[in-house]
Amino acid sequence: MTTNLSVSKSTVSDAHLRHLPVLEVPERLLLGPGPSNADPAVVAAMNRQPIGHLDPAYLALMDEVQELLRYAWQTNNQMTYPVPGTGSAAMEATLANVIEPGDRVLVGVNGYFGNRLVDMAGRYGADVSTIHRPWGEAFSLAEIREALETHRPTLLALVHAETSTGVKQPMEGIGALCREFNCLLVIDTVTSLGGVPIFLDEWQVDLAYSCSQKGLSCPPGMSPFTMGPRALDKLDSRKTKVANWYLDASLLRKYWGSDRSYHHTAPVNMTYAIREALRLVAEEGLEVRWQRHQATAEKLWAGLAEMGLACHVDKAYRLPTLTTVKVPNGVDAKAVTRLLLNEHNIEIGGGLGDLAGQVWRIGLMGSNSQSDRVDTLLAALGQVLKQVG
Ligand SMILES: Cc1ncc(COP(=O)(O)O)c(C=O)c1O
Repeated sequence: MTTNLSVSKSTVSDAHLRHLPVLEVPERLLLGPGPSNADPAVVAAMNRQPIGHLDPAYLALMDEVQELLRYAWQTNNQMTYPVPGTGSAAMEATLANVIEPGDRVLVGVNGYFGNRLVDMAGRYGADVSTIHRPWGEAFSLAEIREALETHRPTLLALVHAETSTGVKQPMEGIGALCREFNCLLVIDTVTSLGGVPIFLDEWQVDLAYSCSQKGLSCPPGMSPFTMGPRALDKLDSRKTKVANWYLDASLLRKYWGSDRSYHHTAPVNMTYAIREALRLVAEEGLEVRWQRHQATAEKLWAGLAEMGLACHVDKAYRLPTLTTVKVPNGVDAKAVTRLLLNEHNIEIGGGLGDLAGQVWRIGLMGSNSQSDRVDTLLAALGQVLKQVG
C-alpha cells in the first residue's frame, strides 16, 4: 500500500506561501491599555531553548515564579501560579473554581470588565446580581455593605483597576466586610499588578487574577492566579466538579504543588518570560516601582492639563497605569489614534463600551512608565491634535 504524500492542488495552493518573507514586526511604542512593550530582558529570556516541563531545572523555575508572584501580590497563598492564556483565562480560573450552579454571586459593575465577570459567572451557573456605578467612579464601602445585606452572595467580584475607565477601586475594609457576610472576595488586578500597590493578604482578598502583558512588561500568554485558604475550603467542599478541566485548581494543585504530576504541557518559554518579568519587579522593589508609576502618571496628567486636555476620572480614584483622557468636542478620536500609530509609531487606545468615542486610554505600565515616554507621547499628541484641527 502506498501513502499519498501529495497535497491536493485544487484546494490549497502554496505558491505564495513558499515566498512569504521572514516575519517582520513594526516597532511600536505601546502606550495603550495593553499589551505594553515587553522589557528586552524578558524577550531575551523567552528566546532560550525550551526544556522539558518536568525537568528538575524547570520545576525549580516554577518554584521561583510562585515565590516571585507571592511577593508581587503581597500574599502568602500557597496556591499562587500563572495559568496559560491571557488575563481572561485567569479570570475564568477564579470563577470556575469557587462557583457551583445556583451560588449567589454579586459583581460590582463600573466598567467593561465588570460585565465580563457577570457573563462568566453566569456561564458557571451562578445566580448573578450586580451593583453599578457610572463608568469613571468607584464603589463606596457603604454601597458594598448595603449590597451584601440585600443580596447575601457567596462571592463578591470587583475590578481593582478598571482598564475601560481608568478607575482604581479603594480596597480598604472590603475584605473584612466580606468575612462578616461569609462571602468570598475576588478581585481583578489585570491593570494593577506591577504598577499599583496591592496587598492581597492585608486586604483579606480570597482570589485574584492578573495578566502578564501590562505592568509586568511581558508578552501576553501566562496569567497570574491565586486563591487563599477560604477559597480552598470552598473548592474542597464542592458537591460538583469544577466545570472547566483545564483551570481546575484541584488538579493544578498536584502539578504546582509537591506532587508535580503531569497536568498539561507547560508553555515553557512563557514561564521563562514571566519569571524574568517578575525578577525585574523584585530587583527594582515594589515600593520604588509603585512610586515610579505614580510619578510618571502625574507628569502625564500635568502635561495633558497644560495642553488643555482633561482626565475623565477624579484624581483620588485615578489609576497611575491607565489614564482616560476626554476627547475635546469636535475632535475625531479615531483620527488621532490612527495618526499617532501611522506617523509616530505610538499606540494609544480608544474608549471602550460606554466610553467609546469619548475618551482615549493612555497606558504607562511596567518598563514604559518612564518620563521620556511621556515627553514622546505629549509631543506627538500635540502635533496630531494640530493636524486634526
Ligand atoms: C481589567 C481587565 N480584566 C480582564 C482583562 C482580560 O484580559 P485579557 O485581554 O488579557 O484576556 C483585561 C484586558 O485588558 C482587563 O483590562
